[in-house]
Amino acid sequence: MKATGTERKMVRKSFRMELVGAGMYESLAKQYQQHEQIGQKFLRFSGHEAMHSRLFDEYHRKNYGSRLGGTRVWRGLGKITAIAMRPLSLEKKVKKICAIEHQAVHTIETLLSRERDCGLYKIMKRILPDEIEHASLYGEIFLVHENRNDA
Ligand SMILES: [Fe+2]
Ligand SMILES: [Fe+2]
Repeated sequence: MKATGTERKMVRKSFRMELVGAGMYESLAKQYQQHEQIGQKFLRFSGHEAMHSRLFDEYHRKNYGSRLGGTRVWRGLGKITAIAMRPLSLEKKVKKICAIEHQAVHTIETLLSRERDCGLYKIMKRILPDEIEHASLYGEIFLVHENRNDA
């Protein structure tokens, strides 16, 4: 990642996407608070994404001399996303979200395999296990049941 402008854009975009995720999971946690296990998962994931956004913000501050703004706006957009998904079943929601999380895992793994000296390497390595956990949610809560039904 030598072109600084490109990296800076990527940091900004990542920061925003993490906040969208944080807001979305927070809203889903509220929607599913009666389903204790799933509600707790969403809450936990929201915490992860908020922490990830802070890593990118801190990175931006250290490398580009300023904090990234718009936290409330991007979190709010995430909440709206969750509200827009309300008509979908839990299974459809989780399926959609996991597809996005899978894409994130793929992007991070590609970056980690290509650019060891990249400044973002440490952050990517730090957030990868969380994103893998997010991407695994669908399999965790739905595929187990499917297999049971098949048996
Ligand atoms: Fe994240
Ligand atoms: Fe995630």
